[in-house]
Amino acid sequence: MSGAGVITVDGPAASGKGTIASGLGRLYGLPVLDSGLLYRAVGVLLQQAGGDLDDAAAAAAVARAIRPEALDDDAFRTRSAGEAASRVAVHPQVRQVLLALQRDFAAQPGGAVLDGRDMGTVICPSAGAKLYVTARPEVRAERRWRQLTGQGEAVSLEEILADIRVRDERDSGRATAPMAPAPDAVLLDTSEMTIDQAADAARRIVEAARARQAP
Ligand code: C5P
Repeated sequence: MSGAGVITVDGPAASGKGTIASGLGRLYGLPVLDSGLLYRAVGVLLQQAGGDLDDAAAAAAVARAIRPEALDDDAFRTRSAGEAASRVAVHPQVRQVLLALQRDFAAQPGGAVLDGRDMGTVICPSAGAKLYVTARPEVRAERRWRQLTGQGEAVSLEEILADIRVRDERDSGRATAPMAPAPDAVLLDTSEMTIDQAADAARRIVEAARARQAP
């Protein structure tokens, strides 16, 4: 896989990477994979089946049945789904099962936008443009709090900030595919940016990366 047409957008929870990835998808007419939804679906479906999030084999069995076209479900966008996702995401067996599916998505003719934690490091190291989107934890907590309370969840800003800190630590500290910028990723800190400013900065990063590759 050449990966030249692939754009990877990695970063921590509520950094703005999802909005940036979907904006880039629209701008360049590329399909977008929200890989967090894969892990969210595994966690939620495992819990619904009465399984244990620490049971790697059971989580991998659930992962085998995941289809990217069946991910658009509000049950996967809740606070507890995010927590469940990060617990099943530590299992190497789960990550292995989801690897082929993500690489197939990346190999579509014309390219794709991949949103996640390990897109530029593990899933598509040959991507033509790589972004690592961050923002201060307090800023991310406020964004996530607005989103969740807008969906009707009763939760405090302090609880969300605590969730974010735990999740950052688990995601960056795990042994397999930890959340980390690829060495060739461009860092984009959206703490002080509006959505439009972040989208514009992301577009400029992609265009600069593509210009560097142009023959
Ligand atoms: O991005 P989102 O918040 O939906 O991701 C939920 C969780 O799924 C993350 O906290 C992380 O543990 C896991 N994840 C991952 N690798 C990815 C995408 C998400 O480990 N590529």
